[in-house]
Parts: sequence; C-alpha cells; structure tokens
Amino acid sequence: MQTKAIYPGTFDPLTNGHLDLIARGATFVDELVVAILRNSDKGVPLFTVAERLEMISEAIQKYSNVSVTTFDGLLVDFARAQGAGAVLRGIRAISDYEYEFQMAMMNRKLDPALETLFMMPAEKYTYVSSRLIKGVFKLGGDVTELVPPLVMERMKAKAKGMRSA
Ligand code: PNS
Repeated sequence: MQTKAIYPGTFDPLTNGHLDLIARGATFVDELVVAILRNSDKGVPLFTVAERLEMISEAIQKYSNVSVTTFDGLLVDFARAQGAGAVLRGIRAISDYEYEFQMAMMNRKLDPALETLFMMPAEKYTYVSSRLIKGVFKLGGDVTELVPPLVMERMKAKAKGMRSA
C-alpha cells in the first residue's frame, strides 16, 4: 500500500523545524505533500502565500517524494481530493499537544478514514516556531541557525524593503 500524507501549515516562514519534519516524513511515507493554508486567520503574514510556496519549493528540491501546494477550506476535503490517507503534524512540546489533539480528533470526526501522524523534530528545534522567529527577527535578533538560508535572505530583503518604504 502506498502512503500519501499531507503536511499542512501556515509556514510563515518555513523554519528548520519544519524542514526537519519534512525530512523525517519523507523517509516514512511514500509521498509527502506540504500544503500551505491560503485562508489563514493568523493576521497579517510576513510572506505572501506565493512567496512561501516559492521558498518551500526550493527547500524541498532534494526530496523526490515531496511536493508543495496550497489549499483552503477544510483540510479533510483537501486530503481526500489529493487521495492522501494521512496528515503529518509535528509535536515539539507538551504545550503543542492539546491543540494538535483537538485538531486530530476534529479531523477524525470529519473523516474517520484520515489518520494523523505525529512526529517530533530534532531536540535542537523544539523551541522553534514561525511566530517566535518573526518576533525575534523584527527586534533585531539573530535567527540564522533557525531558518533555511534562503528564508533568511528573504527575511533580510523584506526588512530592508520595509525600512526604505
Ligand atoms: O501551522 P499551523 O497554523 O499550526 O497549521 C494549522 C492548520 C493549517 C493545520 C489548520 O489550521 C488547518 O488544517 N486549517 C484548515 C481548516 C480546517 O480543516 N479546520 C478544521 C481542522 S480542526
């Protein structure tokens, strides 16, 4: 049986924690689809969906069984349309658990055939989140080791653009 999984998220921006999970997921399932949520209610994003798509496409180039796309609406509908049997999510700490558990159970309610797989990123990324990265970067903190180099470049370019605007 071929296992196709969806790795959904906001990815604003993609972090090394996300990439670590993609690497782990890619060895575990036959096909992994990174899916960027288009209609996120998380407020004004740092990067547009198109920019995130571009960065993730570049970052996953070395994986032949990983692709990236966008979706909106219900994740279960998207997963079904993709013919995927599983959703991959990362759990970094106990604090993630409640939210992830609720989502997994709701998704199971909506589609009992869709399984949620949880994987843990490397220990060194357990505190890394897109939200913290943006916050620290905006205040001048160095996040170089926490995001892929191409994301770092784009963040710097964005900051420069904002300063000169
Ligand atoms: O990176 P995030 O923001 O934690 O990802 C959240 C995401 C995209 C997985 C979640 O918001 C989602 O699946 N949204 C799609 C709408 C949906 O299906 N909602 C019901 C799931 S409880």
